[in-house]
Amino acid sequence: MLNDLQKEIIQLKEEKNAIILAHNYQTWDIQEIADFMGDSLELCIKASEIDDKDLVVFCGVDFMAETAAILNPDKKILIPDTQAECPMANMLPASEVKKAKGRFNDAAVVLYVNTLAEAKAEADILCTSANAVKIVESLDEDRILFGPDMNLASYVSSFTDKEIIPIPEGGHCYVHRMFTGEIFFLREKYPDAEILVHPECNPEIQKMADHVLSTGGMVNHVKESSKDTFIIGTEVDMVTRLRRENPDKTIIPALSEAICETMKLHTLEKIKNSLLNEEFVVKVDKNIADKARGAVERMIEVSKR
Ligand code: 13P
Ligand code: SF4
Repeated sequence: MLNDLQKEIIQLKEEKNAIILAHNYQTWDIQEIADFMGDSLELCIKASEIDDKDLVVFCGVDFMAETAAILNPDKKILIPDTQAECPMANMLPASEVKKAKGRFNDAAVVLYVNTLAEAKAEADILCTSANAVKIVESLDEDRILFGPDMNLASYVSSFTDKEIIPIPEGGHCYVHRMFTGEIFFLREKYPDAEILVHPECNPEIQKMADHVLSTGGMVNHVKESSKDTFIIGTEVDMVTRLRRENPDKTIIPALSEAICETMKLHTLEKIKNSLLNEEFVVKVDKNIADKARGAVERMIEVSKR
């Protein structure tokens, strides 16, 4: 049953002709009032198809909301807490991409959507954890500058003959780096369970898993698998969504401490404030947005093929 605050938000949403988009790492109470939930790619695609709405409240981190703003220059994209930043996205400044392009001028630039708008403006095409291999394989170039996540770069390398050059050195997600040997013990404890991990986890963790999937890939896999028990190697609120949607299955977090602190900055109170006062507007400089839009749209186009 929805609480009073949730009901107020739903009413405000209707009055303002708004839509709430939420990433899979949002908490249960936010999942309940979201109009659409998804991984980064699903959220990008949804953000490209919202012509009938006046306002978008984005419950995710900065790079996700910025991408929605890049795709919708004439709409108000709101983020309930402006401190909701992804530390990985800050690891690859545009200047570093430009430097790498100077050193490897025959390479295509594929950037993870977990980058800021200025870096996106330097990319030929973006990718997410759901489509990275497909995006790289769609390009003519045999040499690819790829960043900022070195674990996703290593994952892509194992599926392509192309040369993947990770930029910057050591780009990573602190949440997915937390996973270490616990997966090995969980495998022994639950021998019939399937282990699903995110490609941002370290390569040795990916090797121990049954499947390496984006968060949207995990949603689809758990729904369709004939197995009953799943161990989930990503942020803990992924487990929340999987449990909500699969009440007859057993969903076990590989590590309960794997919390993305900035994703948790959004709360019902802040979402209400966002709708009520139409704040905080996500702003991307027009020149940067115009430059970055091509790379986002190219990714969406290749993903739909
Ligand atoms: P997904 O696109 O798989 O949801 O991943 C986004 C992310 O930031 C994972 O940490
Ligand atoms: Fe960024 Fe990691 Fe949080 Fe994903 S889980 S938003 S990559 S810090």
